[in-house]
Amino acid sequence: MDYKRLAEIYGECWSGEAGEWNSSLSNKYLEYMITKFFEENFTVKPNFDILNIGIGAGYWDRYLSFKVPEGSLTSIDIDRECADNLDLCLQNENNRERVTILCDDAITYRFDKKYDVITMIGSAVDESGNAEAIIRNAVSCLKEDGALYLQMICDKEGNDLKSIMDDLDVEKETEFSDDSYGIPCRYYKIKGHGNKKRNRQVLSDLSPTR
Ligand SMILES: C[S@@+](CC[C@H](N)C(=O)[O-])C[C@H]1O[C@@H](n2cnc3c(N)ncnc32)[C@H](O)[C@@H]1O
Repeated sequence: MDYKRLAEIYGECWSGEAGEWNSSLSNKYLEYMITKFFEENFTVKPNFDILNIGIGAGYWDRYLSFKVPEGSLTSIDIDRECADNLDLCLQNENNRERVTILCDDAITYRFDKKYDVITMIGSAVDESGNAEAIIRNAVSCLKEDGALYLQMICDKEGNDLKSIMDDLDVEKETEFSDDSYGIPCRYYKIKGHGNKKRNRQVLSDLSPTR
């Protein structure tokens, strides 16, 4: 185990700007709200397969890893350091959950399976530089009854989300916005294709036949 690198990783979280932000009330509030929306709106069964796009410091990935003791978590980040740091920290923390860490571009990466839940929180969508492409790729690897958790820091429905969802034939099930502590945030639960398909079936069953 590279203990020198590990010491640097934990040190970086609590020094300078990162330390000031991580220990702030705004950050604690944001982390609480991100987790609250998730727990109140998403059902996660122990055998679910979850995909998280955008690891950053990896706090969210650690949380998710404990939600699926009989399933799996896949975490992807384009930044090699984020992927390697999470890998080293999970080893150090003796995390025994099934976590696969990928270092790749979530816009173009071809995932080899479908997921029950996909999450993209914080600045992941924004930092990708192409909201439509990253959401499109995420939706394409959702199971029919899966759900995508999108959480973004933005003051309006950013990036023309509605037209992206219409185009992808998926819909929002729940949304919430909040600007406490001067941080404008939006939270969405987006359902996989199965939901819209069923709704269309119900409508066609209800329509009068001649
Ligand atoms: C600041 S983090 C947010 C991390 C975490 N979700 C959170 O809220 O704590 C955003 C991450 O998205 C990653 N990212 C940006 N574009 C990406 C892409 N195209 N594919 C995969 N990861 C990407 C960045 O490298 C960065 O680590």
